[in-house]
Amino acid sequence: ALISMRQMLDHAAEYGYGIPAFNVNNLEQMRAIMEAAEATDSPVIVQASAGARKYAGAPFLRHLILAAVEEFPHIPVAMHQDHGTSPAVCQRSIQLGFSSVMMDGSLGEDGKTPMDYDYNVNVTRRAVEMAHACGVSVEGELGCLGSLETGMAGEEDGIGAEGKLGMEQLLTDPEEAAEFVKATHVDALAIAIGTSHGAYKFTQPPTGDTLSIQRIKEIHARIPNTHLVMHGSSSVPQEWLDIINQYGGQIPETYGVPVEEIVEGIKHGVRKVNIDTDLRLASTGAVRRFLAENPSEFDPRKFLKETVSAMRELCIARYEAFGTAGNA
Ligand code: G3H
Ligand code: 13P
Ligand code: NA
Ligand code: ZN
Repeated sequence: ALISMRQMLDHAAEYGYGIPAFNVNNLEQMRAIMEAAEATDSPVIVQASAGARKYAGAPFLRHLILAAVEEFPHIPVAMHQDHGTSPAVCQRSIQLGFSSVMMDGSLGEDGKTPMDYDYNVNVTRRAVEMAHACGVSVEGELGCLGSLETGMAGEEDGIGAEGKLGMEQLLTDPEEAAEFVKATHVDALAIAIGTSHGAYKFTQPPTGDTLSIQRIKEIHARIPNTHLVMHGSSSVPQEWLDIINQYGGQIPETYGVPVEEIVEGIKHGVRKVNIDTDLRLASTGAVRRFLAENPSEFDPRKFLKETVSAMRELCIARYEAFGTAGNA
């Protein structure tokens, strides 16, 4: 059944687990997520970005998610709009039937320009008023996502600030977070604690302090009733990079957020964990390998089926690691 994200995250907080929020763009991702949720008895958050709406078209995305709800009626699903850049964008998603929206007022409408606190409060408060009147949950964002190692937002063409960010932007201030939640009434808050979007988060192998767990603890202590959200939570599996490169890809050395550090964050109030890049890497690796090993195949269902199983295994691993399994 389609349920609100608030309800789902409240349950996660009560029982101390986290829920991965996977981005969806196509049938294969949707099917992989639902099959993994079914295999592990997990609740599901699927989110659609502006890029996904552009790729698949809003009606196709909507029906893809509704089809998942129809085929898996026993699994709770939250249908979330990722990185809305204005109250108007959120309003359109609410009209389309999304049960949750993100109003990302940390960046301007171009998704690239860091905005000031007052702008963020203003647009987020407006989105919350509208969404709550419709029973829809809202995620806000305070701070600018960026790698603590490189100071960069990461993503080349997606959502993320341009240029190098300062330390004060890279870590959300706990006092400001408390003020922000009080002023906007958001249900969930995305925080900057060292993650960034995309595959290029860190240039060095992680040594256990990729994230500022200390800052997560401080924020959670100030706003214990607000669900914390970690964007940029892909782990960039080295085994998939190796497969991609073994079969003709050219992805330079790069590292993501270790699953163990995310699990540590979940112990301190992180409830929603956004993952997109890992599904992309698994898909690409699966397609490259299949086509290289089966050069005479030309039925797309053959290689797309490989992407479903690759993504399904990855989703199962996250549902199990985050404690989501068994909570559907
Ligand atoms: O927030 C970024 C997500 O990975 C979505 O990326 O805009 O390329 O769909 P996208
Ligand atoms: P990744 O690029 O690390 O998968 O993050 C996705 C995300 O935060 C979507 O909002
Ligand atoms: Na989001
Ligand atoms: Zn994000």
